[in-house]
Amino acid sequence: MKLRATPGGPITGRFAVPGDKSVSHRALILGGLAEGETVISGLLESEDVLATAAAVRAFGPRVERFGPGRWRVIGAPWRSPQAPIDCGNSGTSARLLMGAAAAHDLTATFTGDASLSRRPMHRVRAPLEAMGVRFEGGDTLPLTLHGPVATGINHVNTPASAQVKSAVLLAGLGTDQPVTVAEPIPSRDHTEIMLRHFGAEVESDGRLTRLAARRTLTAQLVVVPGDPSSAAFAWAAAAIVPGSEVTTEGVLLNPLRSGFIMALQRLGADVRLDNVRGAQGETIGDVRVRYGPVFGAEFTAEEIPSMIDEIPILAAVAAFARGETRIEGLDELRHKESDRLALMAEGLTACGVDARAEGDALVIHGRAVSGGATVETQGDHRIAMAHLILGLAAQQPVEVEEAEMIATSFPTFREAMRRIGAGIEEVA
Ligand code: S3P
Repeated sequence: MKLRATPGGPITGRFAVPGDKSVSHRALILGGLAEGETVISGLLESEDVLATAAAVRAFGPRVERFGPGRWRVIGAPWRSPQAPIDCGNSGTSARLLMGAAAAHDLTATFTGDASLSRRPMHRVRAPLEAMGVRFEGGDTLPLTLHGPVATGINHVNTPASAQVKSAVLLAGLGTDQPVTVAEPIPSRDHTEIMLRHFGAEVESDGRLTRLAARRTLTAQLVVVPGDPSSAAFAWAAAAIVPGSEVTTEGVLLNPLRSGFIMALQRLGADVRLDNVRGAQGETIGDVRVRYGPVFGAEFTAEEIPSMIDEIPILAAVAAFARGETRIEGLDELRHKESDRLALMAEGLTACGVDARAEGDALVIHGRAVSGGATVETQGDHRIAMAHLILGLAAQQPVEVEEAEMIATSFPTFREAMRRIGAGIEEVA
């Protein structure tokens, strides 16, 4: 499917932010591991999360939907699934589920689509093997795992990856041996926060995370906050389309996910946070972004993990910023759903932006953006959405290929954007 974004009037109003993808995956998995009935509201019903729901069900727990975003998970001992676990496009499903499965005496084969089957799995396979799990296969999917874990691990997680850290912690629930994960730069800590919510003991100083003695989980109510990685598209549109003002409510503001908000502020965008509060160990709040001039800025490697999924949309905003924007330390972007570093440089260039990849940095000289191009996304949802937002503020429409993949993370994207005034429609 091809989508076209047509430049038009201001982007205004309240943006319906879907549930956070990372928290949604974890709620289903921890619910499946816990004793009792976990009730989830606000679950993101995207393809990636539905892949996790089906997988958890295949391992034995009951997983039921009883209303929009409302799910019930009844934990059970995990057993070998009858068929391969298809993770679709979702790296989070694959890596977290491998960790959770590894805690149990079972055999499971994990598969994925063409994009996921190219992504590195050695980074999760190696620590799980060190914990005594056996694997058949190579460094990519398909992989067959034989649990359970036999020992603990002191894992050094380089490069920082929340998916790998989470896999090790979830596998660690199957042993009483010491389990620690050290990271050079802290990655998102939703697994740690939700493990605590479910009654496990997890200590962390940001760089070193340790599972303590209490490792049993008890079912909980989980309210999934709004996804900042999806809200980012509306914030960006408001920042670059003249006259815009967008409000998003109840968005996850975990500091390890808030890099893009700080990046917008660094570019000079008019961003305001309101009603910031705690919720089940996470921080949430409301965010308002207004149009205003933006200026080039520099971003260093240390800042990347807290906005790892927002680099494509940050690059789109930078295309409108006066002066040079330099985003360093983007090597990990090459291992996402596509090589996002290369695709952003190519897509922006196709839209008339002066953009290039320099080693593992992205360098953009902002100016009026001509648009008028069809952008190749290689089936990457965030590449597609970032270029559609760019198109809303360009001189000519921008079209993106393989836009159906947006449903992996944000199935309601078009409708939510349409309601705040964005002209995004399907083209033949
Ligand atoms: C995720 C972690 C990030 C992110 C992904 C979701 C998670 O990956 O890119 O979209 O839910 O743990 P890494 O931290 O592994 O880079």
